[in-house]
Amino acid sequence: MSLVSAGVAVLLILSAEAIGVTIVVLTFILFNRYWGGFDLDVTSTSHFNLHPFLMILGFVFLYGNALMVFKVGAGVNISKFKLKLVHFLLQLTAFTLSVFALLAVFKYHRQHGYPNMISLHNWVGLTTVIFFGLQLVLGFLIFLFPRPNERIRAAFKTFHVFFGIFIFGMVMVSVLTGVTEQVFYKGGFEGLNSQVIICNLLSLLLLAFAGLVTYIITNPFFSLADPNEGAEPREESALLQEIKQKD
Ligand code: HEM
Repeated sequence: MSLVSAGVAVLLILSAEAIGVTIVVLTFILFNRYWGGFDLDVTSTSHFNLHPFLMILGFVFLYGNALMVFKVGAGVNISKFKLKLVHFLLQLTAFTLSVFALLAVFKYHRQHGYPNMISLHNWVGLTTVIFFGLQLVLGFLIFLFPRPNERIRAAFKTFHVFFGIFIFGMVMVSVLTGVTEQVFYKGGFEGLNSQVIICNLLSLLLLAFAGLVTYIITNPFFSLADPNEGAEPREESALLQEIKQKD
């Protein structure tokens, strides 16, 4: 018996949304109040601040919502095609924001003569953007256009779902190492001041968001009500079938 009921499901989704919005607002306040705000002018030192804000808005909030789209849409009478389109468009927006976020940091580094791609954050971050881009392109080709036959789509789906969750994990590693670097560069580790407290709280909220989103998208309860998938019992895994055959 599932521990999740419809009421609990709605509560979990609303909690994820509330935490997601809080993360975006807290990031905005942090960089606006303490670190000089946001400036589109490349020569300004505040231009860098677009990097963390756009990454968190796109890769955390929009991507998290893109992942939950099919679960949230499960309770609403909307076609699977429209859900797929929303899923794709949210990720396309997230990817576009991440490109601007990368441009902001690379331009900032060039302007100030800082070296590129030194830290763990840089390496994991760039790999995350590349994986995200590949997943987006492959997802579009397989599920939207030209959309090959069902056998290929079904085979690719397992791979797509795994990488969707894995890349979300990579986003969390990128963001948490980014927050740590930011605090380090701002000399925050000299004492527990309000900036460090906000960064630590932000990091805990990021973990809570990651946990809730992952729970929602991996818990079979959320799939059962999908009006387009039907409510048939899930198939046994190939491994379980093999074990049963051997017994
Ligand atoms: C998924 C989200 C993120 C990705 C993919 C990402 C990716 C990157 C990449 C590739 C660089 C290297 C730029 C260069 O070498 O010129 C970089 C630099 C940087 N990022 Fe991020 N980042 C993310 C989020 C964040 C966040 C949330 C923060 C801070 C709160 C942050 C702070 C920094 C800092 C301080 C630098 C410049 C210092 C350095 O060279 O290490 N990043 N990021």
